[in-house]
Amino acid sequence: MTGAASGDGLYPSYVDLDSIIDVHRLRSLDGCIRERLQRRLAAERDLAFYTGPFVLDEQAPTLPGSRLVYLARSDRPDDYYDLNQCERWSASKEAEEFPELMELIATLPFAATARMMIMYDPDGSAVTAHRDHVSTELCHEFIWMRTNRDKPFYVLDPESGEKRYIAGHSAWFDTVNQYHGADATGELAWSIRIDGRFTDEFRALMPTAAENPASRAALWAKWGTVGQPG
Ligand SMILES: [Fe+2]
Repeated sequence: MTGAASGDGLYPSYVDLDSIIDVHRLRSLDGCIRERLQRRLAAERDLAFYTGPFVLDEQAPTLPGSRLVYLARSDRPDDYYDLNQCERWSASKEAEEFPELMELIATLPFAATARMMIMYDPDGSAVTAHRDHVSTELCHEFIWMRTNRDKPFYVLDPESGEKRYIAGHSAWFDTVNQYHGADATGELAWSIRIDGRFTDEFRALMPTAAENPASRAALWAKWGTVGQPG
């Protein structure tokens, strides 16, 4: 367990995954996801998102207003350390409301999936910059994606405070050695995050990170020239 790394030019960073995703298909889901989220809002069915304790600004809210639709459920209570425990997770009842999204998820380069969720906020409040956990030996393999680019989502270097906004529709990024968060939009905004175990073929595209496994996405963003997506 260490604090955030710095000084190596790795942060802020993310790997753009748009070249391995059918972005046209992803964008085509925008309207139906909006409609179903609005329906869920009207019914007040979803739980609030908790950033966890590892926030950049301790005065900032750890319940920033986002809500979660769990497309998969674990057999244990929420724990960030279970995100990649694929055997613990199975498709939820809510997933049946988003069949087009689930079909798209099935095309992603996962050998198996674990936690899957839509994070949304009816008021588009800022998401407090946070790290997901502080165990540098634990690398969560996930794809963050969005059907529109309305949510200004960023990664942030803890040393310099520099932000980098995600430009495209999808990304994988280091959630441990840098912070991530979103600016306010003032209106309904959402993103999707799928955790799991990448396929061996996909893993073969990226460098290994023996000393700080959580930095693998950052190393790929910096050094991944061969097979580099996007
Ligand atoms: Fe997070």
